[in-house]
Formats: sequence, structure tokens, C-alpha cells
Amino acid sequence: MKRLFRKINAFVKGIVLWLRPGLFLGFLGSPFQFLSNLISLSKWISKHKKETQFSDFLSFKRDYNKRYSLYEHVIASQKMQNEAVDYLEFGVSGGFSFRWWLGTNKHPDSRFYGFDTFEGLPEDWGTYNKGDMSARVPEINDSRAKFLKGLFQDSLYPFVDSKPFKGNRKIIHLDADLYTSTLFVLTTLAKDLKKGDILLFDEFNVPNHEWAAFQAFSKSFYIKTELLGSVNNYFQVALKIV
Ligand SMILES: C[S@@+](CC[C@H](N)C(=O)[O-])C[C@H]1O[C@@H](n2cnc3c(N)ncnc32)[C@H](O)[C@@H]1O
Repeated sequence: MKRLFRKINAFVKGIVLWLRPGLFLGFLGSPFQFLSNLISLSKWISKHKKETQFSDFLSFKRDYNKRYSLYEHVIASQKMQNEAVDYLEFGVSGGFSFRWWLGTNKHPDSRFYGFDTFEGLPEDWGTYNKGDMSARVPEINDSRAKFLKGLFQDSLYPFVDSKPFKGNRKIIHLDADLYTSTLFVLTTLAKDLKKGDILLFDEFNVPNHEWAAFQAFSKSFYIKTELLGSVNNYFQVALKIV
């Protein structure tokens, strides 16, 4: 019975490919992918929401400043007030979140790395166009901070090859919006991730982008995470590697 089913499946697939639906049904790809990713995100939320009380779900007002209360919650719940950390931010733009972390963590052995083209998004994203969000490299007078200008796809391999991690807990802040950028960063840093490292997402609940990247990454690398908190209906999320 299974053999018959496999034969029918292979035959139908062949016929569908022969009909070349991509030529006239291509426009359905993104919405179907969106629906599928939205469903998988909702399943993920149902599974993980019990892990933390820190959530505003369901809230009717999106307030971007809530992300700072999420960061404060992460620091307090993980007892990181006096801890040296390696903070890596992917997508710095004007540097608002970067400055927050630099101003909040005063440990002399902490390091802060900000990665960005500073020439804006390398691809269109939703209603934003390629090149949007460009900004000057922030001027920061703190020797613990460093900016790496350029595409992650160019700057991250040399950075990782320089063996920058000396044992501090890593806080990896993913704020690049795009699927491609987020997946590239996660996969490139995968071998350096340790239990206790923190992942912050700034647009986690965007189905075809950060969520899809996180899902592909965690499934492919068998990475397990604990949800530490979320705000703005899972728009901003903090996870711990376990
Ligand atoms: C939403 S903004 C970052 C906002 C910032 N974290 C803040 O809180 O103000 C997203 C940034 O990601 C950057 N970005 C996206 N993909 C990138 C890539 N592949 N390489 C370098 N920069 C990228 C864009 O240049 C853009 O400045």
C-alpha cells in the first residue's frame, strides 16, 4: 500500500512540475508560505509560552519602548547585573538599542560589537526598500565598543576567525529584519553558541523573515532554547540557549 502511495505521489509530482505552475501561480508562493509560517509560529508560541510569565500577549497597542523592559527583565532574571558579556548586535542603524546595552552594562571586560552596512537594508523588506534605514556609524566614546561596517556576509567570517570569544556570556541581538541576514548570522555563529547565551529578536513574529530564519536554524542545528520573555505580541523576544 505504501509503495503504491509513493508511486502515485512521485507521478503526480512529476505531472505538476511538467505543467510549470511557477510560471502562472508564482504569486501564491509568498502568501502560502506566510500562512504556513504563521501556523508554525502559533504552534511554537503555544509550546513555549508556559516558560515565562513575562509577556504582554495579547496586547492591542504596539509600543517599541517595551523592548527596553524586556532587556531589563532578561538582565534581572539571569542575574546579569554585574556580569561581563559579549554583546553582538546585527542591524545597528542609528544605534538606539546598541547604546542602551552599552550604557546599562558597565563591566570593564564586556565587549560590544555592532554589525551593519550603515548603507541600509541590502534587500527590500515588506514596505521598506533596499537602502532604507541607512545611518551614520554612531559616534561612541567607549573603548569597549566596536562597529564592523559592511554586509554581515563579508564581515562575520573574519570576525569569527579572529576568535573574539573568551568565555563571556554572549548576547546576540538580531535586528536585521530580513530572513537572509538573520539566517546567515545564526548559522555562522552556531558553532560558538554555548548554554546560557541569549538571543534577542526584534521582529520575531514576522512569519517569512525572523521567525522563518529562527525556525530553519533551530531545526537544522538541533538548538534548544528557553523563552525568557516577549513583548508586543512576540514582536520582540528573548531566548536562552539551553
Ligand atoms: C531595523 S534596523 C536596526 C535598528 C537598530 N537595532 C536600533 O535599535 O535602532 C536594521 C538594520 O539591519 C541592517 N542589515 C540588514 N541586513 C544586513 C546585512 N546582511 N548586512 C549588514 N547589515 C544589514 C540594515 O542596514 C539596517 O540598518
